[in-house]
Amino acid sequence: MSSLAASDQRTIATPAKVIQPAWVRVVHWINAVAMILMIMSGWQIYNASPLFDFKFSSSITLGGWLGGALLWHFAAMWLLMVNGLVYLALGLATGRFRKKLLPITSAGVISDTKAALTGKLSHADLSTYNYVQRLLYAGIIVVGILIVLSGLGIWKPVQLQYLTALFGGYEAARYVHFFCMAAIVAFLVVHVALALLVPKSLRAMIIGR
Ligand code: HEM
Repeated sequence: MSSLAASDQRTIATPAKVIQPAWVRVVHWINAVAMILMIMSGWQIYNASPLFDFKFSSSITLGGWLGGALLWHFAAMWLLMVNGLVYLALGLATGRFRKKLLPITSAGVISDTKAALTGKLSHADLSTYNYVQRLLYAGIIVVGILIVLSGLGIWKPVQLQYLTALFGGYEAARYVHFFCMAAIVAFLVVHVALALLVPKSLRAMIIGR
């Protein structure tokens, strides 16, 4: 040890801090795959009976036809639900949600939004989420819960009729499900762009440090 230079000794003594623990990284990437499968197969299902005056191009849908898309959607649904429940359980049990996502104050969100728009938002400390991140992450978790519940309401409107009724009936649940998808796609566009703009955050979500 004594033959090492002082800087080498420091490197050994203080390994890089873990920013994203392994369980967060595993559930995050499983969620990303499941979400993409759900979105692309969902677009194909939508095309069979569109709610609006447009269809999704078949180049960005999954399943080939309604039957194939439903198989993909119901298979990926289990992955998304089980993985989501693991994330919620561990997020609550480890105190991660409380530590990382709370508090969310309107003053904090306003000042961090201003800082972000003027290029003054610091990305130096990745272990603390700024207020805009907290709001977006907490918001997308709520949207994730809503899209699963409205999906269950559309899937089993007889057996789960109280759930379907909670969304205002079958037709209304379809609209809720669609707008949750739109919110997730909008989140993803911004989220992936920011991850690429701050590559060390992407690195931390892959290798933890
Ligand atoms: C393939 C696309 C994706 C990429 C490249 C990506 C990248 C990242 C990165 C780099 C972080 C850490 C960023 C930071 O320090 O703020 C993160 C966190 C997060 N991402 Fe993603 N992500 C993707 C997909 C998704 C999807 C589909 C969702 C949900 C709809 C999602 C939800 C979240 C949440 C909630 C967090 C915070 C997790 C926590 O701290 O507990 N991500 N993502």
